Amino acid sequence: MKKAIHQRLLIWYDIHGRTLPFRGTKDPYRIWVSEIMLQQTRTETAGGYFLRFTQRFPDVFALADAEEQDVLKMWEGLGYYSRARNLHKAAKKVAYEWNGVFPADYEQLLSLPGVGEYTAAAVASIAFDLPCPAMDGNLTRVLSRVHGVREDVGIPSVKRQLLALAQKDMPSKRCGDFNQALMDLGASLCCPGTPDCDKCPLKSLCDACREGDADLLPVKAVQKPPLEIEMAVLIITCKNKILLSQRKEALLKNLWVYPLAEDVSTETEVKTPLGKMGLIPLSITPLEQAKHVFSHRVWHMQLWHIEVEEAKEKAGLWFTYEQMQSLPIPTAVKAARAAAEHILAPEVNFLPLQEHRSLICDTARVYCESWQHAHRDHATPEMKKEYTPVFMEMILRSHLDSEKAVYALQANGQIAGVLVLDKKENELCTLYIRPVMQKRNIGTKAVQFAIEQLDRHRDMKVTALEKNPHATHLYQKSGFTLPSARTLLNKEYDLWEQILIRPGEKE
Ligand code: ADE
Repeated sequence: MKKAIHQRLLIWYDIHGRTLPFRGTKDPYRIWVSEIMLQQTRTETAGGYFLRFTQRFPDVFALADAEEQDVLKMWEGLGYYSRARNLHKAAKKVAYEWNGVFPADYEQLLSLPGVGEYTAAAVASIAFDLPCPAMDGNLTRVLSRVHGVREDVGIPSVKRQLLALAQKDMPSKRCGDFNQALMDLGASLCCPGTPDCDKCPLKSLCDACREGDADLLPVKAVQKPPLEIEMAVLIITCKNKILLSQRKEALLKNLWVYPLAEDVSTETEVKTPLGKMGLIPLSITPLEQAKHVFSHRVWHMQLWHIEVEEAKEKAGLWFTYEQMQSLPIPTAVKAARAAAEHILAPEVNFLPLQEHRSLICDTARVYCESWQHAHRDHATPEMKKEYTPVFMEMILRSHLDSEKAVYALQANGQIAGVLVLDKKENELCTLYIRPVMQKRNIGTKAVQFAIEQLDRHRDMKVTALEKNPHATHLYQKSGFTLPSARTLLNKEYDLWEQILIRPGEKE
């Protein structure tokens, strides 16, 4: 007598079944988490997420007690975020209504938020060995081919027919393995398109293989095309902060996104949503385009960078680069996120003015603007008047003449500051950053660059105004010591200068 489908399948599975991070356990919590992840995500991707997620939330109580934002953060990049929100709700139900115990019962599992027929059957069979076929895409394809079901598998009566066939094929033991064997067969040999029938353990029992129409099965009705939407993505910054808001709409609900505006495509049109948020733009710059395909819609996105005058609370919440890293932000706005990070933490280059003399004028202008801003509260009116761009250019030229190393700091292609080093004295003489480019990590990068250029085996020196704690902190972060001495610069303004030393490193 011919071996039954399940016997052939289980022999094949014992040899060829995949080793996956969520297999080899009977813990219903872990199986449930993995099956929710696997609903719309490939096994290769889900594996890593599963390990990180279960490490962070090792049992149903840990998940039930977590903040929804933390659950969404762990889900970031997986998409279909309602799965994460439902997972969280279901965990609360299992933890606090069922005392943390998952029931060995298909109907009760089905009552959990986010658990449909497929997931309930997968958990029931894998965790509890209950004879429930987990009818996903793989099982539908394999069984429609094996049994020669040639009607649209989207029709409820055809679905019921396939389910009944699967139930008949189901063994009395190893029900979870039977489902997973069909999944693995569907993912490897009995794949969509042309299957590899020669290697298939079910070849001699398969109707489609006999009839030669496996590549046409399963029969599926043509799907409605997704809705195409034009979307402006507004990357709104105010100095070192960016505006984000939490989605209220069902799609991407509770995730953090850059303000979005449908059917907005010109600079003039961009001003309308800005006005509604009470924001006054200093600049509006079109950036690149991006596209994201959801299951029922496609977003065609035009990214815009808008720098605004004031970070108005009415518009949403404002975050620094570091704060943004802890928020759940969907992959749909990945391009906008990269652009925002580029703006908030720009790439910095150091151009030696010795080689780029043509930049001297622009650098002097930036030097002047930065100096005036830094000394706005404690420079004499005479000094303020004297320190013009022309005067700064003279200073820079005299530095160059006395063989100091003078650099223009360039951030994302624009001059953002000036740095002067005296290699003979091993001293960082001057560091100024334009006010609009401050708090973007440029200072830290400049100090690190200075340390690389100077001799780290000798004591390094830098002078900072006592009234500028930001500067002192910046140098201390890079190993300069707390100042021990200070010198009076201007009595009327009570202006003191302090010297910080970075001790020479041992060879
Ligand atoms: N897809 C969904 N669940 C699966 C599982 N348990 N094994 C392999 N692929 C899957």
